[in-house]
Amino acid sequence: MGLNQSAQLNVRLGPRRLGHANIFVSDVEKASGFYSAVCGVRGVFREPGIMAIFHSNGNSHHDVGLMQVTEQPRVGRGGHVQVSSGRGFTPGLNHLGFEMENEKTLVAAWERAKALGLEMRTTDHGMSHSIYVFDPEGNYLEFYADMIDDWRSFYSSNENQLISGDWHPDPAKADESRRYSTSFEPDAVPGAASRPRRISRVTLLADDLPLMANYYREVAGLKVIAGGESEGCLVFSGTAGEPSMALFARGSSPKGLHHLSFELADEAAVDEGARGLSEKGIPVLARIDNAWKKSLVISDPDGMKIEFYAQRPGSLPAPASLPQAERLFLI
Ligand SMILES: [Fe+2]
Repeated sequence: MGLNQSAQLNVRLGPRRLGHANIFVSDVEKASGFYSAVCGVRGVFREPGIMAIFHSNGNSHHDVGLMQVTEQPRVGRGGHVQVSSGRGFTPGLNHLGFEMENEKTLVAAWERAKALGLEMRTTDHGMSHSIYVFDPEGNYLEFYADMIDDWRSFYSSNENQLISGDWHPDPAKADESRRYSTSFEPDAVPGAASRPRRISRVTLLADDLPLMANYYREVAGLKVIAGGESEGCLVFSGTAGEPSMALFARGSSPKGLHHLSFELADEAAVDEGARGLSEKGIPVLARIDNAWKKSLVISDPDGMKIEFYAQRPGSLPAPASLPQAERLFLI
């Protein structure tokens, strides 16, 4: 099915929120050190067979997945093709992981999508089951449901093993349990520059904003909570209600990922982060300070922009009210 027919798909996968980001990096060990010591998310699992290291702050099995760029095939358990051919040769976004309510809602979404001919891949990651799709502009999206409560034990019993294989969704056996965590103690990395609670937001740039907006409404099943096509920007949430994604017309910038955002506990954590970054000699690219949030932006070793923000009680500003340089850091 051609992606320009997404208006008719009406699949509405319907995730709760953004759960993780998986990125291709030029040096996975260097990136792992950076995400731990600078970004403050701990390395919790290694999967050397696919050159991947996963980082988490305790709320989920991972906030960030790091995969070494390579032209070698990455094959998981039982010959499962982990990264499709032609991808992962250069640093950048591999996929965005959106968390579903449970396996039952994931399998129901898979059935709707399958009936309408949407192209998908399905994977069993052990701790989660996933479907993967491409949006109309080539961003890769994962919709996943957690399958076990204690991912730490799963990781410790599978360290250095291939954990991902084929998954054959079965509506009759789909698990109705809610297995994502609703409360957790952030697992701070001692001495890290920043202490985020979790990854929570992403900003994408679109070449064809109406097409992409329609896809994220009708296929991804996200809800528009601010903006619109005529404003050049839309803000989306999942069923959890929090802003999870901002989509902007790309202007003169390349389409795709603009930046990822980590939530901090409060404004003091932003200020502590600024001090920690300064001590480590990490340049701050932007500082945002308005009624909606206080944040700072850095880049990772491959140049990907990362924001650390503390939410304020004010309402989301209109993009046009922000200085030009801050507009893409709306949410
Ligand atoms: Fe993922």
